[in-house]
Amino acid sequence: MASARRCSPEVTKAVGRSPQHASANRKVPSCTACGEDTRRTRCDSADANRPARARTHPDCPSKATGHGVAHFRSRIWFSGLSARGLLYREASRRRIMKVPLSERATLMRNEVWTAASSWGAAGSAYERFSEHFADALHHCAQRLAPRARESILDVATGTGWTARLLASRAATVSGVDYSEELITAAKAIARDRRLGIAFEVGDAHDLPYADHSFDGVCSTFGVIFASDPELAARELGRVCRPRGRLALAVWAKDCVLATMAREVFTRFSPPPSDPPPPSPYAWGSEDRMRELLEPAFDLYFERGCSVLREPDGDSVWRLWEQAHGLTVTRLARLDDASKSAFRDAFIDFHERFRTPVGIAMPRDYIVAVGTRR
Ligand SMILES: C[S@@+](CC[C@H](N)C(=O)[O-])C[C@H]1O[C@@H](n2cnc3c(N)ncnc32)[C@H](O)[C@@H]1O
Repeated sequence: MASARRCSPEVTKAVGRSPQHASANRKVPSCTACGEDTRRTRCDSADANRPARARTHPDCPSKATGHGVAHFRSRIWFSGLSARGLLYREASRRRIMKVPLSERATLMRNEVWTAASSWGAAGSAYERFSEHFADALHHCAQRLAPRARESILDVATGTGWTARLLASRAATVSGVDYSEELITAAKAIARDRRLGIAFEVGDAHDLPYADHSFDGVCSTFGVIFASDPELAARELGRVCRPRGRLALAVWAKDCVLATMAREVFTRFSPPPSDPPPPSPYAWGSEDRMRELLEPAFDLYFERGCSVLREPDGDSVWRLWEQAHGLTVTRLARLDDASKSAFRDAFIDFHERFRTPVGIAMPRDYIVAVGTRR
C-alpha cells in the first residue's frame, strides 16, 4: 500500500476504487527502467490511474535503456486493460510508420492538425464554453450512469467537463480529444481537483484503445464534429464491450444553433470544400443516429433543452470570441470590417431572444442512450 500512503485522502477517494489504481497500490511497483521498488516516488493521481504510462525513478540510471522487454512487460504488469491498449497502439504506430514520410506529413497537416489546432485556439478558456451547457452534460453523464469499478471513455472531451462528472461518479475515466491544447488544459484542471482521469490526445476516427476496452462510452457535443461520422460511430462501438453502454449528447437538427450556423457563421466562413464537410447538426435526429449507431447498439432517445442565459448579446459574443476555438480561429482570418460585421450579425441574432431580464436562448438537444449488442 506504499503508493496509497502518499495519496491525499481526496485522491484515494477519487481513484481508489479504480481497478488500475487498486492494483498499482496493492503491489509494490517496480521501476520500469531498473526494476527496483519505486515507493520513494510521489503518487500522482493521474499517473496512478494511468498505469500504461511507465513509472520510473526520476533519477534512475537505467532510464536511458528503459525501452527493452523488461520495460514493456512491467507496463503490462500494471493493468491488463491498459496493456491491451498499449498493444493496440503499438500495432497502430507500426501501420502509420509504413506510410511514406511525405504522405504522413500531408495527412497530419491537412486532416488533423488544422482542425485540432482550431479547436484548441482558445486553450483552457474553452472550459467557460462547456459551462454554458453544463446541464446537458449532466443529463448525458447521468444517463450513462457509471458505476464504481467501471471503465468509461469520454470521446472528444474538450477540457474534460463531462469526464470529470463521470469521474465524480466513481468510475475509472479516460478522456480523448485531438486538440493537444485542450487535453493539456483538461489534465491541469483534473490535477487541480485531484481527479485521476487518464486524458490523452487522439482522433475519434482511430481511437487509441483496444476493442471492447470500456464498460461505457460517452461523447457530449463532441463526436458530432467528426469529419467521417460513419467511421467515428464504428469506433464508438468497437471500443465498447458487449452489453456495455453508450450515452451521446447531440444538438437537435433544427435547434437554434443550427439556424445560427446557417444565418450567421456561414456568411463569415471561407467557401466550403467540395464536397462540403458533414454538418455536426446532421447527427441531431433519431433516424440519423439509428443509421449510424444501430449496427452496434440498441438505442433509446431522450430530448432536452439547455437555455443560454446572459445579460445581453454582447456578453454572448465575448464568450464565443474568447472561449470557442473555432470562432477564435475564424476571427483571426477576417479583416477588421468583416470582424465587425460578424460581431453585429451575431449580437443581432441573440437579441431576438431577449426577455425583460436578459437573453434566454433555448437550445434543443437529444441524448442517445445505447446498450452494446
Ligand atoms: C463542442 S466541443 C465539445 C467538448 C466537450 N465534450 C464538451 O462537452 O464541452 C467539440 C470537441 O470535439 C473535439 N473533436 C472534434 N473532432 C474530433 C476528432 N476527430 N477527434 C477527437 N476530438 C475531436 C474538439 O477538439 C472539441 O474539443
